[in-house]
Amino acid sequence: MDGLQGISSDAEGVGAAIPPRPATKLPTLAFLRAVATNSLSALDEELFDELIVARRYLGQRVFFVSDPDGIKRVFLDNFDNYPRYRYIRRLFQAGLGTGSLGTEGELWWRHRRIAAPAIDHRAIMPDIPAMITSAEEFAGHLDVVAGDQVFDLEAVVTRLLIGLWNQVVTGGDPAAVPMLNSLAKYPRKPRLADFTPLGPLLDPLRPKSQRGGKIAAFDEVLYRLVDTRRDAAYRGPHDLIWRLIHLRDRKTGETLPRTDVRDEAASMIAGGVSPTVRALTWVWYLLAQHPEIEARLHRELDARLEADPLAPDQLPQLSFVRQVIEETMRLYPPIPGILREAAAADVVCGRRVPARSIIAILPWVVHRHRRLWSDPERFDPDRFNEENSAARSRFAYVPFAGGPRICVGASFAMTQMLIVVAVLARRFRFRLSADHPVRAVGRISLHPHGGLMVTVERRGVAMPLTAARR
Ligand code: HEM
Repeated sequence: MDGLQGISSDAEGVGAAIPPRPATKLPTLAFLRAVATNSLSALDEELFDELIVARRYLGQRVFFVSDPDGIKRVFLDNFDNYPRYRYIRRLFQAGLGTGSLGTEGELWWRHRRIAAPAIDHRAIMPDIPAMITSAEEFAGHLDVVAGDQVFDLEAVVTRLLIGLWNQVVTGGDPAAVPMLNSLAKYPRKPRLADFTPLGPLLDPLRPKSQRGGKIAAFDEVLYRLVDTRRDAAYRGPHDLIWRLIHLRDRKTGETLPRTDVRDEAASMIAGGVSPTVRALTWVWYLLAQHPEIEARLHRELDARLEADPLAPDQLPQLSFVRQVIEETMRLYPPIPGILREAAAADVVCGRRVPARSIIAILPWVVHRHRRLWSDPERFDPDRFNEENSAARSRFAYVPFAGGPRICVGASFAMTQMLIVVAVLARRFRFRLSADHPVRAVGRISLHPHGGLMVTVERRGVAMPLTAARR
């Protein structure tokens, strides 16, 4: 791990490498290069000390806002003035059309008013037993196979989660799995040109697979699912796609047109699978690094979950599991950066922000900011117990953003993560492979470079795994 700054590592010396922070602002070209390869390496010390930092790159004004009052101003109080940064929006719009990840204004509101109740806690409650069963079955596969292979836990978690998603999106139709897998990888890796006016001019020159083509290939499946549920003769489950078709806009009473249903379903899958996988991967990474916290989590699971399998009404009782997940998303926010653009001039925490400035609210920075957190690099789930959470501004912790555009799937994500951690941690411990140092890379999401290579032990009995990769 030469040249890399490690976070505290365990007894075996397996630490997560995060790139060193530049002491001062990088020159523009070095900054842009760093953003394109690993955005974490572009963020210098000043950003972790100052609550608002104004910069210019190639004449473009950028405000790095970490002050919770400033974040509240942008996400909530003056939300209309801060649409998503146009180039990020364009990346999503290419394949997701009218889906809420890529739209603004009245079109976005129309989608949001239908999408939110289609995926909120009440809507997914009936799916929780099927999600638990799906996770238990998956754990069963891990349980029966022995071996001592090192494997990529991120790939395993992806497979497990796709099963849970499928329960919610289609009621468990196996034909939908390739479509879910493909959408989970959207959008393609951005290039520097995507963040300039050149982007759309270069688009036609790219291979079809990089222009949303892969998504188009699965439209057939997606539209078949939509059309079946639009048919008056449909008697199947009232799953997410069914709800997106039949829920009415509470303001206008209208439903979404057929193509908009496709776009919104695609938007949710593209927006939701990858960050949930990332969050869970970092949970296992941190638990492996902190045996005392892992032991506490096991104690809670053993004490609370007497019955096998896990029951839906036990999820809210898993308060320490929840704290571990929340603290993981503080240190390793799955979406490390959120960019907005000022439509008109504004004042944020006393600073004048001219129109067209970029506002960078970076959970990676906000969550490790020295003025917001004591000992910010330390993994300490007690930061999220009731008392400590109540003492903090809501806008000092923004893994799901905030305000009207807060992640529409936050509650669904938390439910999935509770299920997966509870089901897997009851049975297994994952150990980091000493041969594969972990390196955190920030792009649209924050991930360990090359996955998270681990071995698995059955709790109490050594039990390495191979089955999950078949
Ligand atoms: C741990 C998991 C997740 C994290 C950390 C996360 C994070 C975020 C963040 C930060 C945003 C705001 C992005 C921006 O404004 O630029 C967002 C938006 C969004 N997320 Fe999530 N997300 C997660 C899971 C999910 C899930 C499970 C879904 C499934 C429905 C989902 C669907 C969306 C959609 C559709 C948007 C756009 C919302 C809008 O603009 O109205 N996300 N998410």
